[in-house]
Amino acid sequence: MKTVSLSDLIAKYDIPVPRYTSYPTVPYWTDFPTTNEWLNSVSKSLSKQDAKISIYIHIPFCETLCSFCGCNTSITKNHSVEEPYITYLLKEFHSYLQAVPEISKRQVDEIHLGGGSPTYLSESNLDYLLDNLFKELNISPNASLSVEVDPRRTRKTQLDVMRKYGFNRISLGVQDFDEEVQRIVNRIQPFEKTKETTENAHELGYKSVNFDLIYGLPKQNMDTMKKTVEKTILLYPDRIAFYSYAHVPWIKAAQRLFTEEDLPTGETKRTLYEYARNEFEKVGYKEIGMDHFAHENDGLWKALLNKTIHRNFMGYTEFRTDLLLGLGVSAISDSWECFHQNEKILKKYQKRINELGFATLRGHKLNEEDLEFRKLILELVTTLEVTIPKEHEEIKNYLQEMEKDNLIIWNENHLQVTEIGRAFLRNICMGLDLRMRRKLPEAKVFSQAI
Ligand SMILES: C[S@@+](CC[C@H](N)C(=O)[O-])C[C@H]1O[C@@H](n2cnc3c(N)ncnc32)[C@H](O)[C@@H]1O
Ligand code: SF4
Repeated sequence: MKTVSLSDLIAKYDIPVPRYTSYPTVPYWTDFPTTNEWLNSVSKSLSKQDAKISIYIHIPFCETLCSFCGCNTSITKNHSVEEPYITYLLKEFHSYLQAVPEISKRQVDEIHLGGGSPTYLSESNLDYLLDNLFKELNISPNASLSVEVDPRRTRKTQLDVMRKYGFNRISLGVQDFDEEVQRIVNRIQPFEKTKETTENAHELGYKSVNFDLIYGLPKQNMDTMKKTVEKTILLYPDRIAFYSYAHVPWIKAAQRLFTEEDLPTGETKRTLYEYARNEFEKVGYKEIGMDHFAHENDGLWKALLNKTIHRNFMGYTEFRTDLLLGLGVSAISDSWECFHQNEKILKKYQKRINELGFATLRGHKLNEEDLEFRKLILELVTTLEVTIPKEHEEIKNYLQEMEKDNLIIWNENHLQVTEIGRAFLRNICMGLDLRMRRKLPEAKVFSQAI
């Protein structure tokens, strides 16, 4: 087996590739469902008595815009937007309950409040929203209830409200601890703020704390990364999502606010990741799939060992449910056989909810082949191995070059990603992405592999 240097591999494979949070990936959603078709699919997913539900609630608001941000946000300091938005969210929720009564009967195993910034909402509005959701749902006593928070704007009293409803997981947006990096991405977040939110969460009894970090931000270098890793380890979160910065300025114009020359790319960017990974592993973290770390005693690591681990639009989770129901502007839902996304523009979302009770923008009805490859890709991005059915031998041909470069090893039809191959997991997935292989995108849509 020839040995190829990391820089040569990066020169060859650092191309635009999907992130595989779904299969088919969003640009390949072609077979859009109507709202009725979507509701039938929701109903079907909950037909069994023991079907399980996850709920995702999107709160789009943030007071200021971080220039790197790729999320669906609505930037305003005017908090009068909170109440009308909650009214629309609850209207959408009640429309679902009316159309598919099983939603209130089946067990809810997971609720995630995401954004934007859920703690943009005041204590009383959080309380009102959760009260109205929780009284209609059958929430498992062991449910995973999680929230994403921006430590710059999160009060202990808000965490207390959510704790009262049983919220037990919290994810803090940290991104980077270096002041210069923070300044350039318009996100000044003193270490003390992150420390305070982490301590508040522990004091209130949240059992799991996650930090979101990003590598590849402007002005990041080995010195800044050392600082970020050191401070992260000092606060010792249970999990770390260590995202590769997705640079998509043709979609997110604010990413043009810094100069591209300041971005670490290719080998420089990957070296930052590998440095941090080694440091995290030294203090007991385990690498999970792409860009995630968890303690050895954390449920996510156990889920990987037990092969129950799942990956969805929010990242890695410990288990899969029969339905992921997304509420709010831009929220994505998944009934396994069908994806569904709400209107991405706030005004349009509100108008559609007002008129129809639902806000379908697009989605995809998966055919037999999509379902088969969805399962295979999911297995690959979670466990880094997968057995390819014999009738799809041509996948081996497509991945031949990666085998030669020692990114993967075949044992008959069983594909195993190597240590070196981990960095190119998204490229390897492309071998199983029949839709993309048949038709490459005509315009720029995906961020770089590294
Ligand atoms: C909805 S935000 C997090 C919550 C909260 N708004 C905050 O920033 O603290 C989810 C996460 O997505 C990640 N993210 C946002 N834009 C990104 C990008 N362009 N590339 C990679 N990760 C990104 C950040 O790590 C961020 O914490
Ligand atoms: S990173 Fe978080 S706080 Fe910053 S703009 Fe994006 S969603 Fe808002």
